[in-house]
Amino acid sequence: MSDRIGGLHHITLCTGSAQGDVDLFYKTLGMSLVKQTLLYDGSAPIYHLYFGNDTGDAGTLTTAFPFRRDGRKAKRGSGQIDLCCYSVPLGANTYWKERLTERGVTITKDYERFGARILQFEHPDCNLTFELIEEPNDLRKPFVGGGIPPEYAIRGFHNWTVLTRDTEDMDFFMKEAWNYTPLGTDGSFTRYAVDGGEVAKIIDVNHQPDARPGSWFYGEGMIHHGAFGVPSLDVQDQVKAEVEGLGLTDFSDRKHRGYFQSIYVRTPGGALFEATHSLGFDVDEPADKLGQELQVSPQFRSQKAEIERALNDPFVLA
Ligand SMILES: [Fe+2]
Repeated sequence: MSDRIGGLHHITLCTGSAQGDVDLFYKTLGMSLVKQTLLYDGSAPIYHLYFGNDTGDAGTLTTAFPFRRDGRKAKRGSGQIDLCCYSVPLGANTYWKERLTERGVTITKDYERFGARILQFEHPDCNLTFELIEEPNDLRKPFVGGGIPPEYAIRGFHNWTVLTRDTEDMDFFMKEAWNYTPLGTDGSFTRYAVDGGEVAKIIDVNHQPDARPGSWFYGEGMIHHGAFGVPSLDVQDQVKAEVEGLGLTDFSDRKHRGYFQSIYVRTPGGALFEATHSLGFDVDEPADKLGQELQVSPQFRSQKAEIERALNDPFVLA
């Protein structure tokens, strides 16, 4: 195991509505809602919804800021993580193709990348794209929601793709700053991995020299950042010092995110990466009741009812 930057921890999206996210991630893909909280950057109340396996393990967490109520739109493009790919068992994509189609989710591609079958589909409520890859060597427990048979259920992340107009400095970053190793290429995709490239330890870099640059600000319809696990705050400090020592000084201070402590760096490929240390989801609610109620950080607790009214982004799980 890497004692430095590890595998994929969570991905954070700017989406449309809370209900749209619940409909896709919870009802259709069978993820559990493991935390309802708020975006703590800025002042407007925006949900921060965490979906993942039932225990909210690193490597399974898709988090969403439903930004439609704010009115600001973002654009997808280069300089972003552009694809989030989840792992399913071998043969499962026949089931998923039918399930997604029945539920009004548009399949955009059924293809192979690096020799594995991938089903690509669109979030019906915003323009983000996701993938399901058939991976026979994923031994993680299946997601439990949505009435999906365990033999087809999602296991967690497989890989994320960074879309970039130029790969040279991103290649340097992946190897020298992020301790990922190149594994090979398939068309415009170059694959990088840590710890030998098991599931949730893979980044693909998609080289598209003519791609339109995507937004970096918060707004509906973009993947904002991807977070990678670090084993301790000491290692986080060390990563920051080493990466800054390479001249890549666009690294944030440590931010306390309630359930993680995080630092953020703008990569040369444009995508925002985070190195995060988990604190656990049971810091503010019991482990067997994760995600059932809105949790607000201590400084806003007295204003919780007012914040819930101002959120004005209702959703139902049923
Ligand atoms: Fe994050």
